[in-house]
Amino acid sequence: MCSLSRVKTFFEKQQRADYRQDGWGDASELYDRSFGNKFRSYARHALDFVECNSRIVDVGCGSGALFEVLKQHQFKNVDSYVGLDFSPEMIDVCNSKRESADPASFYVANGENLSCIEDNSKTLAVALFSVIFFPQRSRGLSEMYRVLDQNGVALVSGWSTVRNLEWVYYSNQSMKLVLSSEKYEPERVALKALTGHMTNQKPNFLAWSNPDDLKQEMEDVHFRNVRTFEKTERFLMPSPNSCTRLWKDMASSFPTIKYLLNSLYQDDVMMDTFPNHKARKIEFEESISKTFADLIGERGPPPSEEDPSSCYGYLDGKAIFGIGEK
Ligand SMILES: C[S@@+](CC[C@H](N)C(=O)[O-])C[C@H]1O[C@@H](n2cnc3c(N)ncnc32)[C@H](O)[C@@H]1O
Repeated sequence: MCSLSRVKTFFEKQQRADYRQDGWGDASELYDRSFGNKFRSYARHALDFVECNSRIVDVGCGSGALFEVLKQHQFKNVDSYVGLDFSPEMIDVCNSKRESADPASFYVANGENLSCIEDNSKTLAVALFSVIFFPQRSRGLSEMYRVLDQNGVALVSGWSTVRNLEWVYYSNQSMKLVLSSEKYEPERVALKALTGHMTNQKPNFLAWSNPDDLKQEMEDVHFRNVRTFEKTERFLMPSPNSCTRLWKDMASSFPTIKYLLNSLYQDDVMMDTFPNHKARKIEFEESISKTFADLIGERGPPPSEEDPSSCYGYLDGKAIFGIGEK
């Protein structure tokens, strides 16, 4: 295959990794352990902005971040909550957290087609960090619009730039640093052949460059009075170990990173150069996770930290939120 079409194929397939149920499902428990807590912080914050929460649908509910926050609030003012995700494994994780008295149910469904939900039947439709992975976001947003009743409200969130998403930013920086060493020259060459000059290719999850883009997309599917806001959550990293673990969990549970690393070591040249390419892949990943921890440690605790000795470093994630009315 000529190099240009190879590069195109790589990016198409990498993008499609996000669109596949198994891309998300095969690490659902890991995702929950590593990111559940972080995503609950955003869900908690998002709920402060909505009132009409009696009949909720949560599209792309993942391992149940929003569900857990509602449960912590004892489902105050909530008559029913339905969590949907296209990954059966994510739904299994949610069901394992559900108790029989909870006014909650979970189903496997694709967020671009919510035929399991009647028109005008919900008061709040939520999509936290999920429509950003849909091949056609407008379909997901239109479905949210359809299932809301006349005064219903939609709440949508996602990411903007890689600089605003520090766990991905530092992961990229670490990979670049590791690839610049002599030892990993074969990886550098193989990666260059896979990605060409398109190293600044924008991934799916950086859906909107700024809050106005999200506002426009919501208005395009007829939401009214759309308001947007940004919210930064700060995650304190207690030790170098917590950083290496986070990177490894990310590399095992984020579909696009998984795809990149697997493709690299399935490359013919790499397989010929390293007959034991599995061991080499582990070594490469170890180096990246260690560099990730080093970079976070170099920055150190946040200036505001009262007890810097208990904190090794931190990672900020600035998310964009949009709220619109039907
Ligand atoms: C980053 S996680 C966010 C999960 C959850 N909303 C949270 O805040 O923790 C993205 C979720 O969207 C789900 N997802 C991606 N594409 C989907 C689709 N087309 N339909 C339904 N769920 C989808 C994935 O399976 C994954 O659970």
